[in-house]
Amino acid sequence: MIVLGIESSCDETGVALVDASGTDVPVLLAHALHSQIDMHQAYGGVVPELASRDHIRRVLPLISEVMAQAGRELSGLDVVAYTRGPGLAGALLVGAGVACSLAASLGKPVMGVHHLEGHLLSPFLSADPPEFPFVALLVSGGHTQLMRVERVGSYELLGESIDDAAGEAFDKSAKLMGLPYPGGPHLARLAAQGDAAAFKLPRPLLHSGDLDFSFAGLKTAVLTQAKKLGPELESRKADLAASTQAAIVEVLVKKSMSAMAKTGLRRLVVAGGVGANAALRSQLNAVCRQRGIRVHYPELHLCTDNGAMIALAAGMRLQAGLESLQAAYTFDVKPRWSLADVSPTSSLLAI
Ligand code: KG4
Ligand code: ZN
Repeated sequence: MIVLGIESSCDETGVALVDASGTDVPVLLAHALHSQIDMHQAYGGVVPELASRDHIRRVLPLISEVMAQAGRELSGLDVVAYTRGPGLAGALLVGAGVACSLAASLGKPVMGVHHLEGHLLSPFLSADPPEFPFVALLVSGGHTQLMRVERVGSYELLGESIDDAAGEAFDKSAKLMGLPYPGGPHLARLAAQGDAAAFKLPRPLLHSGDLDFSFAGLKTAVLTQAKKLGPELESRKADLAASTQAAIVEVLVKKSMSAMAKTGLRRLVVAGGVGANAALRSQLNAVCRQRGIRVHYPELHLCTDNGAMIALAAGMRLQAGLESLQAAYTFDVKPRWSLADVSPTSSLLAI
């Protein structure tokens, strides 16, 4: 079963091809990506209309590139998958429209995939893939969630951010320090040269007793600190970056460990853009080693948005018998879409 995956939910156009034959984890045959970061940088954030137009420009050449890389013909595709949501409506419509027209022209079925399910399953493409069941810490630009994952398609929400996501906390803090978009990786790089104990910043909801997160207050505290520093900010920026990162990472690590204790599971899977953060990885590795917990990550280049995770999620859902494929080409996109809706255990979910 050869699956083409197309991702266009935000500021990355990703295309990939997987072989999901049999029951083994699908094999990644080829993938290609175009990031719009340079284009949006001038505006300090994603401009939705520009994002949609750029997806239109990039998606067909990327499909050709992937087919050439894999040495395969479009006629050999069995399924065309695309990100159906959540994300920017106009951007999603590009991937959905292209996927449906390609599938229609080939007479093959088409399948809409949940973007977060793609992130969540992406560690299965790593050199050290997890086994079910596990706790997933999903930390992207738009979401911070802890989930109990029993098997493909079974996602129980344990806790989530009640306001900003972890990636947003990185990005907004970076922005008010004058760092370029997207702030997360820039802040992380600067933090490596700073003193994490230099500024006392809040660890919101750390002792709340539940598994929810809140990062909006942290951003306000960073702003207050930056204002207090005034002209001194420039010379103390690395310290402020390190202190901000330390606050975010501490909350993510401690809440993840609470989720492990509450569920009694011994495997943790980290996914989403913030999963690329080196401080988060090293602290999780250390604490998991101490507690005998296995921790799994996506390969670094598959932490942020990409087509491979969409093709993979489609392939794994097909293998699990969760999809009934039809050659029907009416489509919609779901800019707001809960992962609960793709899970048979949705009654357990509280999104
Ligand atoms: O998963 P993703 O590519 O997009 C969404 O689905 O939202 O995540 C993007 C987020 C951004 O907020 C970005 O700043 C953050 O991931 N990010 C990082 C790092 N790399 C990406 N945050 C902290 N440290 C990093 N190294
Ligand atoms: Zn994403």
